[in-house]
Amino acid sequence: MIPKRQLGRMGDEVGCLGYGAMVLEGYYGTVDEADAITTLQHALDLGMDFIDTADAYGAGHNEMLIAKAIKQRRDDAFLCTKFGIVYDDNEPGSELQTGWGFSLKINGAPPYVKKSLHRSRDRLGVDVIDLWYAHYPDPSIPIEETVGAMADCVQSGDVRYLGLCNVTADEVRRANTVHPIAAVQYEYSLWRREVETDLLPALRELGIALVPWSPLGGGFLTGEVKSLAADDFRQNNPRYAGENLTINKDRFAPLMQLAEDFRITPAQLALAWLLHQGEDIIPIPGTRKPGRLDENAASANVQLDDETLAKIDEIAPAGLAEGATLLD
Ligand SMILES: NC(=O)c1ccc[n+]([C@@H]2O[C@H](COP(=O)([O-])OP(=O)(O)OC[C@H]3O[C@@H](n4cnc5c(N)ncnc54)[C@H](OP(=O)(O)O)[C@@H]3O)[C@@H](O)[C@H]2O)c1
Repeated sequence: MIPKRQLGRMGDEVGCLGYGAMVLEGYYGTVDEADAITTLQHALDLGMDFIDTADAYGAGHNEMLIAKAIKQRRDDAFLCTKFGIVYDDNEPGSELQTGWGFSLKINGAPPYVKKSLHRSRDRLGVDVIDLWYAHYPDPSIPIEETVGAMADCVQSGDVRYLGLCNVTADEVRRANTVHPIAAVQYEYSLWRREVETDLLPALRELGIALVPWSPLGGGFLTGEVKSLAADDFRQNNPRYAGENLTINKDRFAPLMQLAEDFRITPAQLALAWLLHQGEDIIPIPGTRKPGRLDENAASANVQLDDETLAKIDEIAPAGLAEGATLLD
């Protein structure tokens, strides 16, 4: 079992590495349902109990899949889900342009917040959601209003902890005055380090955990991405597009070499580095393969000394990767 970490200043203890279940919805290639359930249950066996999903993943399907995997073992899982990306064309929302060239429809209005809660709880088949995030701030609604409606769901006993994703330091501070925030999700890895400037210091001041999404750079930092299938959703990501992929492979080659020198895999180096950035950091890598879960879990035992951490900083400083991010 992997070691535990505390979820923010007030939170429960969860596995120091969670499991990102988005990968089970076909965004990186097809997944057989029985295999998906086996993978999820193997994550729980390893103590990767901090299970991350969202209502928008597979338009509700991912939550139902998790319900099947945890049916006999609800107490083994710390269930985290999100709402706010509108996945039903009949629902209203505000357009949010992303750095990947497409827009998302976001709804953080109180009636939608409440409706989303009931839908997620039903699909997950649980009485209580352990951690419930707003997936993106709604550009047309003050964050205080969205979090106020989320706080009502804590009051009613339907949710234990509140979280936010893809927010600025200022938005977290404002939200935290309405209701304590336990965790914030933001992209953070050796190819996306902007969080270190403003957001992470603010979270530390407020006692809020940072949950890095795409901790493996969506797979890039594993060194395994050679080319992408036509239906792979990373085709949207400019960092994987054409020349940028070649440039990024060259720039990050010394990191892959460093992993080889240490006789660990590049994925383990990327995850171990994140775990060394602070006890308040709980990455959520995703994989469809149980064997890779074992590999990722083993990164919790990798010790990086100060000299190695300094070398990694030298090899992969903030801003090294070429190409816009989702939040640009
Ligand atoms: N809040 C948000 O806005 C937001 C946004 C994006 C993601 N997320 C969450 O963050 C989670 C993780 O992010 P992500 O899926 O974008 O990226 P990620 O975890 O950085 O990378 C996933 C990719 O890495 C590959 N992989 C994993 N372990 C590996 C290993 N040991 N060796 C080789 N390849 C490996 C997986 O492929 P295989 O399946 O083939 O192993 C998959 O293609 C998601 O599942 C989701 O829950 C949240």
